Amino acid sequence: MPLVTWDETYSVHVDTLDRQHQKLFDLINELHSAMASGRGREVVGEVLAGLVEYTRVHFTTEGNYMLKYGYPGYNDHKVQHDYFISKLDNFRQDFTQGKLNVSIKLLIFLSDWLVSHIKGSDKAYSRYFQEKGLHV
Ligand SMILES: [Fe+2]
Repeated sequence: MPLVTWDETYSVHVDTLDRQHQKLFDLINELHSAMASGRGREVVGEVLAGLVEYTRVHFTTEGNYMLKYGYPGYNDHKVQHDYFISKLDNFRQDFTQGKLNVSIKLLIFLSDWLVSHIKGSDKAYSRYFQEKGLHV
C-alpha cells in the first residue's frame, strides 16, 4: 500500500510543479516499499539517493518560479525547504549507520511533512501564481 497518493486536492495549478510533486510521492512510496520489504541496502541506498537528488531539483524549480514572479513569501518558504533537506540528510545518516527502524519512522515523518507543506505553504504560492497567470 502506498504511503502517499497524489490527487487533485494536492494540485498547485502549475503543471510542472504538480508533476514534480507526483514524482516525489512516487519516490517516497518506492523507498518505503523497498525498506518495508527488506530490500537490499544497495537498492534502498539508490532509491534514497534518487529521492534526495530529485527533492533538490524540485525545490530549485519552485524557488526559481518564486523569484521569477516576485513571490513575497520566498524567504520563509526557502527556510522550510532547507529544513526538509536537513531532515533528509539525517535520514541518510541513519540509513548509512544501519538504523533501519529509525529510518522508517523518519521516512513517515518526511512524508507527513511533505503532505502538509504542499497543502499549506505550496497552496499559498499557488494562489499567488494563479493571480499572476502562471499555469505551465
Ligand atoms: Fe515547497
